Amino acid sequence: MRVCVIPGDGIGPEVLGAAVRVLMALAPGTELVEAEAGWGAFERHGAALPASTLEAALAADAVLFGAVASPSHAVSGYSSPIVRLRRELDLYANIRPTSGPGVDLVVVRENTEGLYAGRERLEDGGETAIAERVITRRASTRIARAAFELAARRAEALGRPGMVTIVHKANVLRVSDGLFREAALAVARDYPAIKVEEQLVDVAAMRVAQNPRRFDVLVTTNLFGDILSDVACIHGGGLGLAASANLGEGRGLFEPVHGAAPDIAGKGLANPLAALECVATMLAWRGHAAEAARLRVAAAAILRDGPHTPDLGGNATTAAVTEAVLVRLVGHLA
Ligand code: NAI
Ligand code: MG
Repeated sequence: MRVCVIPGDGIGPEVLGAAVRVLMALAPGTELVEAEAGWGAFERHGAALPASTLEAALAADAVLFGAVASPSHAVSGYSSPIVRLRRELDLYANIRPTSGPGVDLVVVRENTEGLYAGRERLEDGGETAIAERVITRRASTRIARAAFELAARRAEALGRPGMVTIVHKANVLRVSDGLFREAALAVARDYPAIKVEEQLVDVAAMRVAQNPRRFDVLVTTNLFGDILSDVACIHGGGLGLAASANLGEGRGLFEPVHGAAPDIAGKGLANPLAALECVATMLAWRGHAAEAARLRVAAAAILRDGPHTPDLGGNATTAAVTEAVLVRLVGHLA
């Protein structure tokens, strides 16, 4: 398996360093191809996503992505490399699971369009800013299908009925979310065994915060899914544990939900467990179910017994947690 590793900025390289050590311990035959992206790459090469990185990602069997720092003001020539990678690789399904006591839900987020379509402009001499929210029937239909397929697989694996919650704001965004809603409900008709419900995004956010146990699979548009998955991950131990898969036809990019975390970057305190769960998800997706299961058992033991990084209330470093996982996995330091 050839894996393209894109560490990025801030804690991205710190958590991907841990991920690569654990990956090589589990699957020593893996070929690694490292590539640059992010603010550092932009400063060095004038490109947040250099052409060589895009080529390496396209040529690999899977991509491991850390995190990138994007400025919150317009910088000429800069746009978010992860948003662009998702579009260029057509990774249309962003799968963001959360599990905690009694909670087992998955946010399925449309990953190629919506408010992140990259269609922003200034008008009126800079006094008016416009962002176009692009919703297509094609993208809405395929993300809804991904959500119902996932709900059907989970229902079978867990031996209980499945449910998909379609999250939108079609009462206000009548045209764009009206189309998303209509496309998702059309897909639902092909899955009579899966319960389907609709929720407006604001009330959905409240319910995910307050009563997460009632959810199974949620499907929504790009920005809403970005926000809802950060709310959901509170129930799984926070951003330090939340992993995600970006999937397209035959392609996969695996990344922690968190960003570059400038407040803790360079201190060796980032929780590597989200990045390690990305490794497990990637291995499982590539058919290495046994290795994925071994890693998850080891990570769960560390989560239970420690050592823990500060986000989980401990004082261990990234390296100490990673070494503890490796000891559980292979019985000695790798
Ligand atoms: P963030 O996710 O980087 O950090 C939010 C909070 O969670 C911080 O207090 C941070 O210390 C903590 N945190 C995050 N990951 C952690 C980990 N593994 N272990 C322990 N604590 C962790 O979000 P923030 O601060 O809003 O954004 C920082 C930068 O990251 C920005 O430049 C933003 O554009 C970028 N970003 C990049 C993403 C990506 O590459 N996919 C996603 C989100 C933000
Ligand atoms: Mg996010």
